Amino acid sequence: MDVASSLAVVQAVKGALVVLAALGLTAYKWSTDTVVTDDAVYDYIVVGAGTAGSIVANRLTENPDVHVLLVESGGDPPFETEVPGMFPFLTKSAIDWNYVSEDDGYSAQYHRNGYLDLPSGKVYGGSSSIHHFYYVRGHANDYKAWVDAAADDSWSWENLIPYFKKSECLVDQDILNSPTGQYHGTNGYTVITRELREISLKYLEAFQEVGNKVVDDINTGYTLGFTRPMVFIGNGIRQSSAESFLLPIKHRLNLHLTKETTVDKILFDNKKNAMGVQVSRNGKTFNIYARKEVIVSAGAFNSPKLLMLSGVGPKAHLESMGIEIVADLPVGESMEDHLAVVLAHKLEKTDETPKPENPSDFPIPTFIGLDALDTDQGYPDYLTLNLICRNNPTNLLLLCATVFGLHNDVCEQLAKAGQGREILVTVLNVARPISRGKVLLRSKDPKDPPRIYTGFLSNSTDLENNAAYIEKFIKVTDSSYFRNIGGETLHFDLPNCKGLEKNTRDYWKCYVLNMMDTTFHYSSTCRMGSVLDGELKVLGVNKLRVVDASSMPNTVSANINAAVMVLAEKAADLIKKESDQYNVGHCVT
Ligand SMILES: Cc1cc2nc3c(=O)[nH]c(=O)nc-3n(C[C@H](O)[C@H](O)[C@H](O)COP(=O)(O)OP(=O)(O)OC[C@H]3O[C@@H](n4cnc5c(N)ncnc54)[C@H](O)[C@@H]3O)c2cc1C
Ligand SMILES: *[C@@H]1O[C@H](CO)[C@@H](O)[C@H](O)[C@H]1NC(C)=O
Repeated sequence: MDVASSLAVVQAVKGALVVLAALGLTAYKWSTDTVVTDDAVYDYIVVGAGTAGSIVANRLTENPDVHVLLVESGGDPPFETEVPGMFPFLTKSAIDWNYVSEDDGYSAQYHRNGYLDLPSGKVYGGSSSIHHFYYVRGHANDYKAWVDAAADDSWSWENLIPYFKKSECLVDQDILNSPTGQYHGTNGYTVITRELREISLKYLEAFQEVGNKVVDDINTGYTLGFTRPMVFIGNGIRQSSAESFLLPIKHRLNLHLTKETTVDKILFDNKKNAMGVQVSRNGKTFNIYARKEVIVSAGAFNSPKLLMLSGVGPKAHLESMGIEIVADLPVGESMEDHLAVVLAHKLEKTDETPKPENPSDFPIPTFIGLDALDTDQGYPDYLTLNLICRNNPTNLLLLCATVFGLHNDVCEQLAKAGQGREILVTVLNVARPISRGKVLLRSKDPKDPPRIYTGFLSNSTDLENNAAYIEKFIKVTDSSYFRNIGGETLHFDLPNCKGLEKNTRDYWKCYVLNMMDTTFHYSSTCRMGSVLDGELKVLGVNKLRVVDASSMPNTVSANINAAVMVLAEKAADLIKKESDQYNVGHCVT
């Protein structure tokens, strides 16, 4: 199969899913929609039922006297979100905001489009309903920077451990009975399991032989090494925040969920108190009010967009859009994301027909690694997500062309190499990149998508580092396993890198520029420390917080969903504590 026919198949499947959606196969689970009415009043309004918003809404409504409205642009998660094996069909669909990056004329040039698809979920569960399942918490060192930004030690790794445990229900006796079991929860809403297919073991051994540690549990805050990862899959079902935090509480009368409803503006009174929100649903607009607070959890693109539309953002930019300023803050600036570089290794010959995977498992056998150029530093420089495709050109094409929109030529070369071979596909990320992107408004019309600049590789240090990390990673080709079967790094025929000698630093830098994509970890667009205070309150205004990936002061050396969850758990506690204080001596209405 070539790229064109592979993409055609994907389109056909997506078309079929659109038809199936009409059957509303999951509607029975989600019979929770509240039709909003004008001038309704709640204690809290939470904007966005994604990873963070679902958690906040759940925790706040533990108190039956607290009334919360959770507003979501999307709707019920269709059944393909539940089945792990369906992951390639979730983006570029009706449950994706379908944003793309602005063409910066530099990165993403050797891509199908010259820009990047930047998927994010528009559905209950948000991006956790379309993500790729990896449960990785990040390193204690990452959270040190959160402590600095918040000027508050309660954001340290040690102090966040209870919140990680609070969300988690780890189903893995080996880990629970081991010394690292103490870092894991068994009573939380989100079921976490481990990827345990044995095909990874020979690779783990190979990485061990060339000097890496192999561990069972990478989520202890201080561990570097390679492992078969924990995943957001439980009972064969995706553990999105919607599945885990909203479904079990849909009977709560004090929680109203309203779907297919979009917040277009935060309403401020003349003392800069966030009084409520203006929403649109089916072409009608309503105002809804919050007695206590508005909590924005619309994700790393839409939270800054909403703030800016409401007058909270960089003055010059808002003025250029004709928006009146409420607070002049660096909203949308300094976006972080993990640049992904796709590497491939060609391994043993095999003419076995690909073994069909159970669609309830993680879709492709996988292992991950956290590594540093100098491991003595104790924290990672880069992280790798590794996928094993055994005589499976179809999967290779899906990964290459659909998950990462790499150039057709490259995808065809990859699929060809995978014919009758085992291929190790590696997504290599710089853990804490220096380059920054930004989110701007396209216009003051809420229906317009934001302008998103990834900023990828805009600082040349990232490019240099990325090349160095590749050089370290591919040392695995010196291991006995790789040598015995003639395993080798694939060098694609990249037109822009012609004439550069393979395996030189300049070659790898060129390779990075041509084989890059995003890992979908957009964050820090309303960061704690510059837009928010240490309690995630928006500076310069009152009764408004941002709680989601945008609030992160900096990214973490991991896939970021677990970090977004911990941030939301902690935020919910902060809000509840403050609300208890307010209520002392007051009549609670
Ligand atoms: C394809 C993909 C793969 C990923 N893979 C992984 C992985 O393997 N592991 C991992 O840890 N992380 C992964 N991530 C990242 C992770 O899923 C996200 O970082 C995380 O879900 C972000 O959570 P959030 O709460 O900030 O935003 P979201 O979960 O995106 O939630 C925002 C919600 O707000 C809603 N919304 C937005 N604007 C409005 C509005 N104006 N009015 C009403 N509602 C609104 C949206 O529809 C959405 O439901 C992946 C992400 C993607 C997209
Ligand atoms: C790149 O990052 C380094 C390290 O933070 C910094 O010193 C340098 O000024 C940056 N370069 C540019 C062009 O921004």
